[in-house]
Amino acid sequence: MDGRLDILFGLVGNGETFADIGCDHGYVAERVLKENKFEKVIISDISAKSLQKAIDLLSPFGNRVTAIVSDGFDKFEVLPDEVMIAGMGGEEIVKILSNAMSLPKRLVLAPQKNSDKVRRFLVLFGYKIEKDFTFKDRNKFYDAIVAVEGVDEYSELEYLHGRDNLLNFPDAFKEKLNLERTMLEDIIALSTASQTSKEDAKVRLENLRKILK
Ligand SMILES: C[S@@+](CC[C@H](N)C(=O)[O-])C[C@H]1O[C@@H](n2cnc3c(N)ncnc32)[C@H](O)[C@@H]1O
Repeated sequence: MDGRLDILFGLVGNGETFADIGCDHGYVAERVLKENKFEKVIISDISAKSLQKAIDLLSPFGNRVTAIVSDGFDKFEVLPDEVMIAGMGGEEIVKILSNAMSLPKRLVLAPQKNSDKVRRFLVLFGYKIEKDFTFKDRNKFYDAIVAVEGVDEYSELEYLHGRDNLLNFPDAFKEKLNLERTMLEDIIALSTASQTSKEDAKVRLENLRKILK
């Protein structure tokens, strides 16, 4: 299990049924079962070929595992207590959550991009965001969001950057912002960049400076 999955596994709670949507390899589900965080696990993927990897990996766990080829929750017959959806874009995660007939009490989400859209969905649809931070593994930045049923209120900056990042300024978040700042400064200085992209870069840079100061 790589560092990213290790961190995501650390965010998993406890209960009766855990689901990993878009499980692919099935490593998180395997550890959930091994460490008895949940009694039962639903492994699910839109791709039968991807799901097969997890089925093979989890075969020693017998009837503690249910495997479903499904687009999001579409083919689910049981509502899990908790779901992980990791390694997809934020828009795909929002689509999966919006299409569900009902949603688990606890969500562990790791959007690859557009995390702000996921945060907006969660607050609008009755979730309280418990954890919301950026981390780095093998030179890549990742966002992790844990939400439970409840009421929350987010500022625009929190939607854009994540609440824990703004409160605690973890190193990975600082590094990501600094890289973004350099990239925006480069765009502004580039003679071949269009006026529109320069204007856009200026606005984004101004917003970044407000946080970095
Ligand atoms: C990059 S892999 C991530 C695997 C694992 N969750 C992780 O974070 O390492 C994305 C997986 O999500 C699956 N996937 C994409 N869209 C999906 C959807 N709408 N419903 C279920 N699975 C989906 C893909 O088939 C793929 O196996």
